[in-house]
Amino acid sequence: MKAVILVGGFGTRLRPLTVNTPKPMLPLVGTPFIEWMLTNLRDQGIDEAILCVQYLADRFRIALGDGSRLGMKVHIIEEPEPRGTAGAVKHVAHLLDDTTFVFNGDVMTDLDLQAMLAFHRAKKSQLTIALTPVEDPTAFGLVETTADGQITRFLEKPKPEEVTTNMINAGTYIIEPHLFDDIPANQHYMFERGLFPSTLQKNHPMYGFASDAYWTDIGKPQTYLDVHHDIINGKVRFALPGTQAKPKLWVGKNVTIAADVTFSGPVVVGDGAHIASGCVITGPTIIGAHTQVGAGTAITASVIWQENHLGADVVVSHSVIGHRNRIAAGVKIHNGTIISDDTVIDGDNSLDRGVRVWPGTTLAKQSISFQ
Ligand code: GTP
Repeated sequence: MKAVILVGGFGTRLRPLTVNTPKPMLPLVGTPFIEWMLTNLRDQGIDEAILCVQYLADRFRIALGDGSRLGMKVHIIEEPEPRGTAGAVKHVAHLLDDTTFVFNGDVMTDLDLQAMLAFHRAKKSQLTIALTPVEDPTAFGLVETTADGQITRFLEKPKPEEVTTNMINAGTYIIEPHLFDDIPANQHYMFERGLFPSTLQKNHPMYGFASDAYWTDIGKPQTYLDVHHDIINGKVRFALPGTQAKPKLWVGKNVTIAADVTFSGPVVVGDGAHIASGCVITGPTIIGAHTQVGAGTAITASVIWQENHLGADVVVSHSVIGHRNRIAAGVKIHNGTIISDDTVIDGDNSLDRGVRVWPGTTLAKQSISFQ
């Protein structure tokens, strides 16, 4: 069976992590998210995936090739310009001739795809949308259904008093191929504001497949951190890399950890990392491959990618650090800070409250402090 995966967005909410790396290629515990997604689809019976790429398209080509490394067929098709979610599918519609799964490429879910397909067929649905419950639906697209799942109304980002359901569009669709004819060619067109409401208006049978499967949109700084916490707390199926050295500690190959380092909560340490004496590492935390952590450094609930160098007595908490950064001794990094790639952060800097540091930045001594 074929699937289309939408991976062409700019990932603006996750900038600057997405300046060099498209959102679906961001590492989750060291593996690009799209690889986890493709493997999950393959294991659930999808043998051919068409990736609609646009922004940083080469990153997908280099990483995935024709998909044979992952045991499936992958086509990487680039749009001439961003066509929107439905416009992107129209652009590859010549490759689609049967019932097709469509996935947003930034949603981590272990939804049962065969159960969704069986539901779609049993209802003789033309377009089925996976639904997931959320606590606060006001930031999402709501989907109202009858008791047996037939969709009756779409409501985009409602005001609190307009909320009638907590079921939202979960970003997984099953679409019958004749509906691709209803998407205008060569223009920007969205599912949410275009094909979905127009299909409903035409009275084609549309159903919502509600499930309480694991579901997170990885596209915001907090949810990118949260999804790591869920993975290493075992809330979603994910093969953690390395070997389990002790309860809640996974270490890769050629790792050196000083004898007096304290670990608590789940922690993953990537291949070739070095953690010096007196460090305190509090999970859920990921320390990427070939990262050096200086003596006395404390890291809490953070995600650190590969090849970073952290000096002595650095403090990192609830933050993300990208690739190849050099962080001087004593620097403090707190509370939703995002450091992208190839930065140099000199001493006496304190980064806090969601500060974002762009790739290649050098912060001289005492550039940033918070009271
Ligand atoms: P933000 O800029 O932070 O909103 O992120 P985004 O645009 O990358 O993601 P959004 O949540 O808006 O889109 C949902 C999914 O559709 C993501 O996986 C995007 O990569 C993808 N997507 C959005 N717009 C396009 C597009 O024009 N073309 C293609 N091929 N994919 C798109």
